[in-house]
Amino acid sequence: MEKGRLEGKVCIVTGGSRGIGAAIATAFAREGARVVIASRKLEGLAQVAEAINAEVPGSAWARACHVGKLEQLQELVSWTVGEVGLPQVLVNNAGTNPYFGPLMGVSDSLWDKTFEVNLKGAFWASRLVADKLVSARAAGSILSIASVVGMRAAPMQGVYGMTKAALISMTQTLAVELAAANIRCNAIAPGLVDTRLSKMLTGSAELTRMFTDKSALKRYAQPEEIAGMAVYLASDESSYVTGQTFCLDGGYTIT
Ligand SMILES: NC(=O)c1ccc[n+]([C@@H]2O[C@H](COP(=O)([O-])OP(=O)(O)OC[C@H]3O[C@@H](n4cnc5c(N)ncnc54)[C@H](OP(=O)(O)O)[C@@H]3O)[C@@H](O)[C@H]2O)c1
Repeated sequence: MEKGRLEGKVCIVTGGSRGIGAAIATAFAREGARVVIASRKLEGLAQVAEAINAEVPGSAWARACHVGKLEQLQELVSWTVGEVGLPQVLVNNAGTNPYFGPLMGVSDSLWDKTFEVNLKGAFWASRLVADKLVSARAAGSILSIASVVGMRAAPMQGVYGMTKAALISMTQTLAVELAAANIRCNAIAPGLVDTRLSKMLTGSAELTRMFTDKSALKRYAQPEEIAGMAVYLASDESSYVTGQTFCLDGGYTIT
């Protein structure tokens, strides 16, 4: 049988209970990876892990973890090392967008929540995994799910856009600082993808058109359409790729 592109790799995917994270975890397992999926609620995670294990037995584990809480991330990474193996791949995918409105109107608490989950959690997870890799002298790949709104003005999604811009910056700096340790860091910037997070946009014909009219392909994506690039960036096929942000946006950013 042909070997999978991620054969032998242990991967952590945060926000793996649905949407883009679940699609990435499923694609990873199909390519031979062992995948630990994490999010706050075990219920959704368990369903995804069960579906993956039904297709690829023994390839998925579900762990509850709020990425905005350092001690829970420490527990996630230690548990993964002890029970599954050293994680050579981390996907910082967990994300939230609790405030939809003009930047001038955001409250401090919603600002803090957005930064805590989207940025601080991704940084903490990256540092925890990189520390383990450096101690073990092992190579790795850290992938963060940013957004096209981190590369452009993001009316009504300003704080969310700022966290995604910062994730892109974090990716570039970590790529330089961790290169000597053979840890590559990249980001994917999706356009509009059909998930629970984007329901506010996809649920409104007018807001959906603001994206689709401007994109070359004139439609939004399904979560599975993001997973192929994640497999590539996690795999050794991308061994010369680091510090990059790949727009998977149906041509939104070229018009
Ligand atoms: N959908 C889009 O149009 C779009 C576009 C560009 C970028 N993105 C990015 O893609 C990533 C995935 O989003 P999605 O669209 O797939 O959304 P989704 O379907 O709503 O999934 C979000 C995931 O994040 C988890 N999560 C939320 N808060 C968390 C926390 N504090 N700690 C741990 N896990 C948490 C959720 O699980 P629990 O509720 O169990 O915690 C869920 O698994 C996000 O980073 C998002 O910003 C999405």
